[in-house]
Amino acid sequence: MARPLLLTLTIFLLASILIQLRLVHELDQSISHDAKYLFSSKEQATLQKSPACYPHSKVAIPKNSIVPPSDIQVLIGHAHPLISLSWSTSKPFTRIYFYHIRKAGGTMIRKYLNAVASHYNIDLRIQENKYAKEEVGSAPGTLYVTNLRDPVERSISLCHILFSHFKYEGRWDCKQLVKNHSFVPTKANAKRFEDWKETNGFVPSDCDDSFSFTNCAVNCYVQSFSGEGCSNDEWKSEYQLAKERLFRYNIIFVYEKFKDTNYIQAIENFFGVSGFNKASDYWCGAQAHKANKKIPLVVGFEHVMKLTKLNEIDIRLYKETTLCDNWAAGNYDFCSDILFVGHENRTVIG
Ligand SMILES: *[C@@H]1O[C@H](CO)[C@@H](O)[C@H](O)[C@H]1NC(C)=O
Ligand SMILES: *[C@@H]1O[C@H](CO)[C@@H](O)[C@H](O)[C@H]1NC(C)=O
Repeated sequence: MARPLLLTLTIFLLASILIQLRLVHELDQSISHDAKYLFSSKEQATLQKSPACYPHSKVAIPKNSIVPPSDIQVLIGHAHPLISLSWSTSKPFTRIYFYHIRKAGGTMIRKYLNAVASHYNIDLRIQENKYAKEEVGSAPGTLYVTNLRDPVERSISLCHILFSHFKYEGRWDCKQLVKNHSFVPTKANAKRFEDWKETNGFVPSDCDDSFSFTNCAVNCYVQSFSGEGCSNDEWKSEYQLAKERLFRYNIIFVYEKFKDTNYIQAIENFFGVSGFNKASDYWCGAQAHKANKKIPLVVGFEHVMKLTKLNEIDIRLYKETTLCDNWAAGNYDFCSDILFVGHENRTVIG
């Protein structure tokens, strides 16, 4: 009984990996890189390194305000205000801004950053769900932090029982599950995975909709980081803007690495505070877990493939940010001169 199931799962996983690889390859061929227009070559050298692989303490302050995504088409190939980035160092950090990506280990990170902030007696500002309100690099002395997870895994989580976006906030009405004691989860009131395929979850988003991670099934990273919930060029301009903004964060946590003790050590060294990756509860988790146990989710292979295909731009962004050439053999090269702990002139309490 168990063996055929294991075999089926293995085949399924292998197939999905192959298809993802294929998609990324196709995307590499199809998306033209206009990034060269966005940065001068000198600046590009710095920005090409992902802060997931190379956390840094620099701040890229745009001299002009960021171009609204709607205007970007006009600007591609022309002088772009993002060219005039001025780099400065933000040390010592007196504040942390965390843009919390849901269902990617964010609740644990919040707790950890809280411990960091109280250790150094500095401010911590957390934002969740909507578009980031604070432009990356706009406040001096601030360490900008965000987190990522494989976008398809984040949505449906084939390997993990816990922590998937669809199984929690997509499938169930969490408000009912948590607050309404007479609400009984059934197959009839569970929402269908097959229908969860739009930019706004079960429905397409309007361009001027306010983005929300709770209601997002397609290209959530590109939407959230670019600040645009729709596209008229198959996400090309949103992808560019999202990547440019994402690469200006000082550090990006990668969910897939959280089990790696070397990674945990590198982060704890970076901040000079222990306790990264301690288990933590999250809203609606226990209730939805119970409901999913009662009514197991059966996911059709073709629907997973469809969702994967719909999320191809997000997958690309995720891979470009998290495939780190300096991470070979579990060696996380968080260069020592930017360690948070090493900053001068800060009162350390606790
Ligand atoms: C609580 O759940 C019951 C049963 O599903 C439903 O009839 C009722 O309208 C719900 N109450 C609220 C306030 O949503
Ligand atoms: C720390 O304080 C000393 C003495 O006031 C000063 O010379 C030094 O520049 C400060 N360092 C930083 C990084 O602000």
